Amino acid sequence: MDEGSIRKRKEPQNGHSGCTKDKQTEKAAVLQKDVGLLSGICLIVGTMIGSGIFISPKSVLLYTGAVGPCLLIWAACGVLSTLGALCYAELGTMITKSGGEYSYLMEAFGSVVAYLYSWTTVMVLKPSSFAIITLSLAEYASTPFYPGCTPPLIVTKSLSAAAILLIVMVNCLSVRLASYVQNFFTAAKLIIIIVIVGAGIAMLAQGKTETLSNAFDGASSSFGAIGLAFYNGLWAYDGWNQLNFVTEELKDPFRNLPLAILIGIPLVTVCYVLVNIAYFTVMTTTELLLSPAVAVTFGDRVLYPVAWIVPLFVVFSTFGSANGSCFTAGRLVYVSGREGHMVKILSYISLKRYTPLPALVFNGILAIFYIIPADVNTLINYFSFAQWVFYGLTALALIVMRFTRKELHRPVKVPIIIAVLMVVVSCYLVLAPIIDKPELEYLYCTIFMFSGLLLYYPFVYRKVNWACRFMRPITMHLQLLMEVVPPEKTE
Ligand code: ARG
Repeated sequence: MDEGSIRKRKEPQNGHSGCTKDKQTEKAAVLQKDVGLLSGICLIVGTMIGSGIFISPKSVLLYTGAVGPCLLIWAACGVLSTLGALCYAELGTMITKSGGEYSYLMEAFGSVVAYLYSWTTVMVLKPSSFAIITLSLAEYASTPFYPGCTPPLIVTKSLSAAAILLIVMVNCLSVRLASYVQNFFTAAKLIIIIVIVGAGIAMLAQGKTETLSNAFDGASSSFGAIGLAFYNGLWAYDGWNQLNFVTEELKDPFRNLPLAILIGIPLVTVCYVLVNIAYFTVMTTTELLLSPAVAVTFGDRVLYPVAWIVPLFVVFSTFGSANGSCFTAGRLVYVSGREGHMVKILSYISLKRYTPLPALVFNGILAIFYIIPADVNTLINYFSFAQWVFYGLTALALIVMRFTRKELHRPVKVPIIIAVLMVVVSCYLVLAPIIDKPELEYLYCTIFMFSGLLLYYPFVYRKVNWACRFMRPITMHLQLLMEVVPPEKTE
């Protein structure tokens, strides 16, 4: 390590950060604006299309009970995601800080709410979604090697951990590389979707419409079951807010953020509805419910000599989605570290690579812990519960700021009714499954969210002295080890 870089790393300890502009480093130590429109669309589409469309159709059908409502739910989830994302387009162009909901909640409701959001999201939501996606990846990657039986858990868990390590490494190496990986895998997943939809259309043309007729027989009318069906559908759509996490790295955010949202999400909605119709052309509802992996069963029936492409592309798809999740999770951890809501080291940036390296590594380590329980479906239900609390709060933030922050410039202004609708829908989504079938886990989830306050008071609000003294040498050592510096202040 050369002297210059040590100096650069030590000075910021005293609160100075203007030391990075020497002959070695021309660029300021901030995340660079490397994400263009195409990469933005790929970040949205590529994170949204992950494992969900290949595993959730079964659960959506299970909870709705019939083909018609099932397809309606898939379409409704798409509309809901688009409406949500429109609210985010307003918020993201009004407050151009990275960190998504975190920055908006901070602006509208202040530090405590933003802190509770970052606490829950950094500690649970981001790493657990990373874990869920890589677990599905591992399942699809290992199944072909264990014909006729389920792969041993140890194999899927190890594979999933390996994928996490690989993705974290890619993201630590360079923002460009991570973007390329994202774009490449987004293209791959669109190919497999086109193949499935094409095959489905061919089947329809041959008159295979038995499952699609009598579409409403046996439909479920339970309030909570519909809520759970939404959870599973919405899991497949989750990721529609991804671009808002990286606004600071987006080129021309005022144009590219709304545009990427308006192109990306309707595209995914159309794909998802068509894929589901394709599934129903070759499987009856019972067959679909019995199939361990819907897309694979579809491939076996329709694409026979090349059926193996389905699991292969599902692996690609999940890999890309996990990469996108990791990319944005790193930014959230980074922003909340920067605001003093997480330990400072998490907001530091790699000196050579301009990536939020400590944040990415931290998220990866947590994700590996979430692999251990490994029941994907339960994870998804609790994930959605907590996630929708915050989507609702963010839509509420939009409404509140229309009154409290009138002076802010709003390049995109959505009709307020959309935000109101989002609040109402998220109340339903959060409450319906609990009212229908109260389970202790939802309570644990809520207790966990609020338990963050126990840390907030001493460490964030009071900033107790001994904690600073305790953290200082640790921060210093980690800083030297990872070659990272605090981000430079930009206007
Ligand atoms: N929709 C993705 C899938 O179907 C999951 C996205 C997870 N959410 C996130 N914010 N990373 O696999």
